[in-house]
Amino acid sequence: MEKLAKSRFITLEGCEGVGKSTQLKMLKEYLEKTGQPAVFTREPGGTPVAEAIRNILLDKSMEISPSVEAYLFATARVDHIDRVILPAKERGELIICDRYIDSSLAYQGVARELGIDNVLALNSYAVEKCMPDKTIFIDMDPNNSWRKQNGKKILDDRMELESDSFHGKCYEGYKELAKRYPDRIAAIAPNLDKKTTHESILDVLRAGGFIK
Ligand SMILES: Nc1ncnc2c1ncn2[C@@H]1O[C@H](COP(=O)(O)OP(=O)(O)OP(=O)(O)O)[C@@H](O)[C@H]1O
Ligand SMILES: [Mg+2]
Repeated sequence: MEKLAKSRFITLEGCEGVGKSTQLKMLKEYLEKTGQPAVFTREPGGTPVAEAIRNILLDKSMEISPSVEAYLFATARVDHIDRVILPAKERGELIICDRYIDSSLAYQGVARELGIDNVLALNSYAVEKCMPDKTIFIDMDPNNSWRKQNGKKILDDRMELESDSFHGKCYEGYKELAKRYPDRIAAIAPNLDKKTTHESILDVLRAGGFIK
């Protein structure tokens, strides 16, 4: 049997409604079916403190400045790293996280215009202790996302309520990050056939020795 990579911290990234949750569900089913245990988690959130911060961040009645927003995401991330990700890494487990540091870099760094390097600096804890071994980026324009194509435009949180131009900037941010970190970030073209996208994700993860 082929040897798996020593560190297996995988993140899934992309704009709103492009199928991240759909793909995570398919990946979870595949891993269960093939007897490969994994820890599934998400950001912002993953711990009680981080979930409480998530509620503030997504609450549409809150007025939050770009800098405070960036610090809140980074703070929630520290708790998540300490309580969930690092312990699982130490146990040698496969960790799959719905959104992580690249969301901060794309949303606060690029779309909120704080700058990628500034947002990296205020995420130094994650940068130094816990960068993903592989990041799957679903490379789809949010203004043409599956959710929008399906006509289901559920505008229920503070981020989703942002303008099309804001979401367009997030997408540009992700594309810039994919160029900046070509070894870590794998851009996956979306496909109307969910199974095709699923297979592409499995290929990337198998090639890196993260799954069998
Ligand atoms: N390949 C696909 N073709 C058509 N529809 C899809 C496809 N993938 C996902 N969808 C649909 O698009 C919608 C959004 O998908 P999903 O919730 O997985 O996106 P998401 O990236 O997790 O969104 P969010 O950023 O809000 O968490 C869902 O209704 C889902 O069923
Ligand atoms: Mg989702």
